[in-house]
Amino acid sequence: MTKIAFIGAGNMNAAIIGGLIKNGIPATSVIVTNPSPEKREALSAQYGILNAADNNEAAEFADIIILGVKPHLIVEVCSAMKQNVNIEGKCFVSVAAGCLLKDIQSALNTDTAIVRTMPNTPSQLGLGMTGIYANEFVSASQKAEVEKIVACTGELLWLQDENGIDRITCVSGSGPAYFFLFMEAMEKHARAIGFSDSESRLLVQQTALGAANMVVQNPEVEIAQLRTNVTSKGGTTQAALLQLTDGKLPELVETAMKAAFDRAKEMANNS
Ligand SMILES: NC(=O)c1ccc[n+]([C@@H]2O[C@H](COP(=O)([O-])OP(=O)(O)OC[C@H]3O[C@@H](n4cnc5c(N)ncnc54)[C@H](OP(=O)(O)O)[C@@H]3O)[C@@H](O)[C@H]2O)c1
Repeated sequence: MTKIAFIGAGNMNAAIIGGLIKNGIPATSVIVTNPSPEKREALSAQYGILNAADNNEAAEFADIIILGVKPHLIVEVCSAMKQNVNIEGKCFVSVAAGCLLKDIQSALNTDTAIVRTMPNTPSQLGLGMTGIYANEFVSASQKAEVEKIVACTGELLWLQDENGIDRITCVSGSGPAYFFLFMEAMEKHARAIGFSDSESRLLVQQTALGAANMVVQNPEVEIAQLRTNVTSKGGTTQAALLQLTDGKLPELVETAMKAAFDRAKEMANNS
């Protein structure tokens, strides 16, 4: 049984651990660390997994080590492991935004198996979208194990180069917030035309959920076609969509996504 260590008991690692246990991974094959005891002990109690104060002890125990600390701590944590643990044959998985493979690699050994992932927040619900990129030292069986872990949090997409991490950041990484902004704007206007706060929230969330599910459940239909299907000529939907296209919504989305991509690159280069 593959043993998995989670370095850091924060939000992202907690989401992955929850998914693993829900999907039947034995709790005794999972260990979590965290400097402050409260978080790691809470996760340990919730899921029956092991916990340790010492990252090195957890790394020693595991075959796969998930680095769930803030990006600026990754190199420090990895350097300490390299000094104190025999890391040969182990696979390191970073969930950190903006921490390049070369930096993680230089903190470990140059031939260490390393995977970079870019999850998003719906991973907490098992509805995440994660991009994965593995360096050339990750074996086929390690890839399969990492895939099994990530799949516990939702869908995943293997990326062919590390640049794919920045590209996926501007689509699914930051994407939930784009939809939140749209839903916020709709909720605001629903209130303005007389619906209560709770009614406005219900109207917007159910509409978003329904629209997303129509896309999911009709994989053979283009999204543009789904839109056309609900847009009668001269009708209400067409009146609204004309305003959105006149206001250049599609161009604005493109500009916004380009800004997220540029920022992801900038952050990676400055890390
Ligand atoms: N949350 C997301 O949706 C999301 C999405 C994409 C990527 N990520 C990436 O996921 C990583 C974690 O993010 P998060 O949101 O889960 O952050 P978080 O909730 O702050 O978790 C980070 C955890 O790391 C612990 N920690 C600090 N120093 C440590 C050390 N030396 N050894 C072990 N653990 C240590 C912290 O403990 P204390 O609190 O006790 O200091 C904290 O519990 C980040 O790199 C972020 O870029 C997150």
